[in-house]
Parts: sequence; structure tokens; C-alpha cells
Amino acid sequence: MSLSDTILSLFLEKYNKEPFMVTAPGRINLIGEHTDYNDGFVMPAAVDKHIQFAVSKNESDLFTFYSVDYDKQISFGLDELKAGSHWINYLMGVVDGFRQRGFDIGGVDCVFGGNIPTGAGMSSSAALCCGFGFALNELFECELARLELAQIAQRAEHEFAGVRCGIMDQYASLFGKKESALLLDCRSLVHEYLPFHFPEIDVLLIDTKVKHTLASSAYNDRRAACEEGVSLLQKKNSTIHSLRDVTESDLESIRSLVSSNVFPKCQYVVNEIRRTQSAANLLKAKDLVGFGKLMFETHWGLSKQYEVSCEESDLLVALAAEFPRDVLGARQMGGGFGGCIINLVRKDAVEKYSLAVRKKYVVTFKKEPDFYSVNFSQGVHAIDKLNRS
Ligand code: GLA
Repeated sequence: MSLSDTILSLFLEKYNKEPFMVTAPGRINLIGEHTDYNDGFVMPAAVDKHIQFAVSKNESDLFTFYSVDYDKQISFGLDELKAGSHWINYLMGVVDGFRQRGFDIGGVDCVFGGNIPTGAGMSSSAALCCGFGFALNELFECELARLELAQIAQRAEHEFAGVRCGIMDQYASLFGKKESALLLDCRSLVHEYLPFHFPEIDVLLIDTKVKHTLASSAYNDRRAACEEGVSLLQKKNSTIHSLRDVTESDLESIRSLVSSNVFPKCQYVVNEIRRTQSAANLLKAKDLVGFGKLMFETHWGLSKQYEVSCEESDLLVALAAEFPRDVLGARQMGGGFGGCIINLVRKDAVEKYSLAVRKKYVVTFKKEPDFYSVNFSQGVHAIDKLNRS
């Protein structure tokens, strides 16, 4: 049975009425890591891994969710919205976001489930919030634009999950397009679609299965280090508002004034913003070889300057570099401290490469990595009756 059929039949069994159905994708990010909250550029794409929802109004004040993946049902009322790290808190955050904007959202019944691996840096939480927000927007006829839905989902992460994330994940989940990456300017919040049609290349994610428990506090710390750099630079030049406005020579001027922790963090971000712009030009010129080299550069910046990598990720990226014909680029993806490595691999070499990776990884870390080949897909959308899969 397909995912949407499973969700639909569970919903019908429980509620015996036709639901509104939505699918929300996870995302990859080709390049532009930790640049979104610095007003920089990112290059994500929505992928063919989803969370799907069957939702209907229930004419009460109660919100009831059944998670197929966790086989768990949880309900809450409007007076019970609170922060926390459970999936239910994210959904509470979305409801709160609509109410904050003045929408009189009432209760719903919802069954949801999906195939986005959690904690793998593929933004399952953004898919959860964006998909649910999209459903509320339709059911209660709020007429919010996709950007506003992305902002509600981002706010849920900030205020309900305590992660001061940027907007990349939510934006990619909502604005994704088949066979395209997005070049998003996180300052103007304007994007451009970059066609990504390379039939001979596989976008292969290798999941390290490393889940860092302190990842969210470490994430907030990185953001604080960037802000510290900016506030010092601002004292010298009031036209600087974020690391987007900063050049390498601006940075040099504060090298001796900031702690040894802050300088390399800011330097990484300034470099990564430029690198993402260069990568966009290479992609437009269909130069994936040049593009891949920049992905490797990003990885070592994330590892040595931004310090958000881990042994497992570093080993996989170093291994990728031993296959120069087969692997064009590789780097750790997402917030960091494990999760997935994104690799651009020649299709004819995927099997050989995956075998080599598995062998080395198992011998070194005594655990199996997971492999996912992904395709770039459409952003959050309703699933119509004829199109359930
Ligand atoms: C997480 C955040 C994003 C972004 C990335 C790092 O995925 O949710 O906003 O900052 O980390 O690029």
C-alpha cells in the first residue's frame, strides 16, 4: 500500500469522513550551510521523501494527532500549547502561529506519517510544520502566502522547540520544484530556480546515524558567535547589519578584538556566502566538477572553522575524495554533528562507491550507515483523490 493510502485508510477507519490530504517534502542542501541566519545565500531542494497528512476540521477546540510512525495518538486544547522537544510541541507551535496572526483556528483530527529519516539533517521537523500549516491554511481559508507559512513554521522551531534556525528548511519544503534547486537570498527572501538535470549523476545521501544530543544548543551557540562578530564590526561601520555585509578585510580588522572562537566562525560564514554565489554560477554553466570542489571546501570549513562536524562525517568526506572520478562533491549537510553526507556520484559508480563506504564505515565505527538516492521534487501540495501515492 502507498504511504498516502495507508494514511487515508487509517483516517477513514478512525473518523469515517473524507479528509484533506497534504504531502510535505524534506530537503537537501547542495551548498550554503549556516548562511541563512546570516542573511546569506543557500541552495536547497525539496526531495522525494515526505510526511503526509490526512486532516479534517472537527468543530471542537480539540486537536488530535495520530502519528503512524510512532503509533501514538496525542490531543491538546488551545489552552495547552507549550514548548518542548516532542513532535507534538512543533504542531502546537504551528497552531499558535496562526492564532498569533489573528486566525480563529479550531480543532482538527489528523493522521500523519512519512519516510523522512529523523535527525538525519533532512528537515523532517520543517516538513511536519509546513505540511500541517498548509492544511490549516486551506481548511480555515486563511489565505496566507507560502512565505508566511514558512515563517509560521520557523517561529514554531524558535519559540516551541528552542532552535533559533534560519528559514532555509521551511522555504525549501514549501517552494521546492521538480528537477530544480533553489538559490535563495535569505536577506530579500527572493529565490531563483536553478535547473538540476544531470541524468548521469546520483544525489546520494549517506546517513552517519550520528545524532548529537547537544546539537540544538550548539546550533544556537554558533548563531551567537556570528552575532558577536557582527556587533563588533557594527561599531566600526554602521552599515554592517549581518555577515552578508562583511568582507574578508573587514573581518581582519577585528581579528585581535574577538575571541579565538568567534573569528573562524565568522570567517567560515563570509567565505561560505561567496562560495554559494560562485557555486550558483558554476551550476548555471553546468560545471558540476567545479561545483563539487566547492562542496568539499564547504565541508572542511564546517569541520575546521565552524566546528560542527564529527569524526564520522569527516571520515566519509575524506573517503569520497579518494574517488575523484566517481564522486564530484561531498560534504556534511544541515545543522551538523552528524546527520547525512550529501554526495554527487556518477550513476555507474554508485554501487561500487556505496560498498566501499559501507565497508570502511563498519570497520571503523562498528555501525552501518544508510544510503538514500534522492530526486528533487515539488514543494508542499495537496494530494488530490486521483493522485494518491
Ligand atoms: C538547520 C537549520 C537551517 C540552517 C541549517 C544550516 O537545518 O534549520 O535553518 O541554518 O541548519 O545551514
